[in-house]
Amino acid sequence: MKKSAADIWEDLRNQVDFLAEVGAGFALRPAEDEGRGEPSAAPSLPSLAGRPAPTAAERKALEELDRQVLVCRLCALHKLRTHAVPGEGNRSAELMFIGEAPGRDEDAQGRPFIGRAGQLLRKIIAAMKFREDEVYITNIVKCRPPDNRVPHSEEEEACSPYLVRQIELIRPRVIVTLGKTPTDYFVPGREGMTARRGHFGDYRGVPVMPTFHPSYLVRNEGNRELKRMVWEDMQKVMALVGRK
Ligand code: URA
Repeated sequence: MKKSAADIWEDLRNQVDFLAEVGAGFALRPAEDEGRGEPSAAPSLPSLAGRPAPTAAERKALEELDRQVLVCRLCALHKLRTHAVPGEGNRSAELMFIGEAPGRDEDAQGRPFIGRAGQLLRKIIAAMKFREDEVYITNIVKCRPPDNRVPHSEEEEACSPYLVRQIELIRPRVIVTLGKTPTDYFVPGREGMTARRGHFGDYRGVPVMPTFHPSYLVRNEGNRELKRMVWEDMQKVMALVGRK
């Protein structure tokens, strides 16, 4: 779908806004340690050459999967939802963002990341020079937990096969996990997010970049250092997909 001039303007405004917030000077030059390598994961990153694009049948399968999510009853969260939220974006996206679970706004509208945290995520995406319709945004749990609590393990277990299938069908080049819940699922580790963010993990050959959840940034609005760290992580992602 072609973007209107107003949408393109909105993307540009978001891009500039976020770069200004993190400090444009920092954003426009490489991080100081860039080029010295990722100690843990870089040597084992898979070749990204020749990633086959999803076939027509796979795109159809993804649409069918969305329909299944919308009527899913695999865990108790379905009783409380207004809408299940399968995810949105490009069905052959290079870049996939995975959050925890829908919040109130997302439950009301059936779209991922549209509340305050979502607006910040969308600014980050624009700052990365991606249009929203180029990436795929989803969550590990597709229905809202009450009071936005962290999903229980049985809810995650019931729901995660949908996400796994989405990844298999979309085959992103890079996954960004937002916060602890999806990071624990894809690249489990005992350390906290501060230690784990910024280091690529691997999920079945797909590099996974853990970073802070945008709602954590929203809750700590005055803390520019957190935003700077997220931006540093996203620059590594951009370098990997050749957008830097
Ligand atoms: N937080 C998430 O993890 N996902 C959303 O979709 C919205 C807020």
